[in-house]
Amino acid sequence: MDFRSLRFKLTLWYVLILGILLISFSSFLYLTLSRSLYRDVDHKLRSLAELIALESTSPLSKFGFGNIDQTLEASMNLKPIGKFIQVLDESGRIGRTSENLKSVQLPISLNALRNGSKGLITYETNHSLGNTPLRIITYPVKENNQVTKMIQVASSLEDVEDAINTLLVILIVTVPSILVIASLGGQFLANKALKPVDRVTQAARMITSQNLNQRIQTLKVKDEISRLIDTFNEMISRLDQSFRQVKQFTTDASHELKTPLTILKGEVEVALRKKRPLHEYEQVLESNLEEIDRMSKIVEDLLLLSKADIGEIRLNREDIHLTRFIAGLTEQMKILAQPKNIRIEISNHQNEIHVLGDTLRMRELFINLIENGIKYTEAGGSILITLTKETDPPPEALRRAGDSVNPLTPKEKKAAPFAKIIVADTGIGIAREDQEKIFNRFFRVDKARSREQGGSGLGLSICKWIVEAHQGEITVESEPGKGSSFIVKLPLYSIPPR
Ligand SMILES: Nc1ncnc2c1ncn2[C@@H]1O[C@H](COP(=O)(O)OP(=O)(O)OP(=O)(O)O)[C@@H](O)[C@H]1O
Ligand SMILES: [Mg+2]
Repeated sequence: MDFRSLRFKLTLWYVLILGILLISFSSFLYLTLSRSLYRDVDHKLRSLAELIALESTSPLSKFGFGNIDQTLEASMNLKPIGKFIQVLDESGRIGRTSENLKSVQLPISLNALRNGSKGLITYETNHSLGNTPLRIITYPVKENNQVTKMIQVASSLEDVEDAINTLLVILIVTVPSILVIASLGGQFLANKALKPVDRVTQAARMITSQNLNQRIQTLKVKDEISRLIDTFNEMISRLDQSFRQVKQFTTDASHELKTPLTILKGEVEVALRKKRPLHEYEQVLESNLEEIDRMSKIVEDLLLLSKADIGEIRLNREDIHLTRFIAGLTEQMKILAQPKNIRIEISNHQNEIHVLGDTLRMRELFINLIENGIKYTEAGGSILITLTKETDPPPEALRRAGDSVNPLTPKEKKAAPFAKIIVADTGIGIAREDQEKIFNRFFRVDKARSREQGGSGLGLSICKWIVEAHQGEITVESEPGKGSSFIVKLPLYSIPPR
């Protein structure tokens, strides 16, 4: 048996507690029984002594004639079997005795004599007569307030000691036997209770990154172990999903890079097939450059995202006057929107909106959103950017409120203000089922169309990372054919007073 195992510890605790209980109970039983048996003997001795005393002092007493046994039988119809009786005068001289004492005398201690002369009753256990101890009561009899005699009644403690010894033997034999049986039973129960744990361990050992689709068999009974299994299975599911995402990501990334490479290769091969005039080579090289640019953008974006994943990107936070910042950016983006004749407008209700952020990343965020707006809006459409201050629990707090460990603090409940920026276009819109996917890496609703426009599906993943790195939140609302609104919430920055 493994002494460090839970089985052993459980059994040990079980036996230990049972042992303590049994020993306490046995001691209690032994002590109360022996005390009550001794008390019973004393009680009987005293009753007899009192009877004899009463009889000996009665005016009609026949006490004094014959031996004590006869007297008791004659006057009280009493046969004190197994009791030794002896009457002493006040100075301790032995007078009459019961017949069973014959030539033997009951011993009387100095203490009993002294107590007797003071009118006090004494109980003593004497071991000097025979093999078994005797219990003796010395009972003073008073006449006219004067101790005139003392009555001693004795009884053998043999029966009492026999009973107590028998009980002791029973306890000594049964308690260890019960403990042995209990330890076997405890081991059996611990084994039974822990068997599913072994199964879980074994099943968990079998699950590797290669077979993350396997699950541990759940139990019918909903107990702690079944909860453990459920939790385990949930964890494996999450791992499975992460692994799948990683695999998917690698596949997507390779695929995304493969397309421009294939195009590059094809163009170069065609160009090299025969001698061509210079301007044709120039055309090929220009087209090559386009594909190379596309690949560099993908690699750059991927690098940024993977650095963000491992937390390697430091944000350089500074006070950004959001109204001015967006206005400046919009002016630049208007140039991009011109060829498609798309209008870009800003609706600004509050002039002073500040956030604490990394200017470069914020630029990237809004350029991506406006660029998407331009890309996915038909010519002649429009993009409206709305800037407002709102109060609501901040997105970060709301996210945290999801876990019960860190609920909203009362201050947070009162709502911290945040900046709300909506980039709304009148474009093609996004179907409901795609709305939550568009923030995934490489996801594009229409791959061919997006690629035509130079997109690789990483833009919104980067936006999401930037917003969350600023403790904000980004969501989308859209209706196919009508347009899409990307809503960015960022914690407001209140400039400290100078
Ligand atoms: N304003 C929008 N209107 C309609 N669909 C959109 C809009 N913004 C994004 N989408 C859809 O979401 C997809 C993902 O957008 P995302 O910006 O991540 O990638 P992309 O624009 O295709 O490429 P990239 O931004 O990497 O150049 C797009 O391919 C498009 O299908
Ligand atoms: Mg984009």
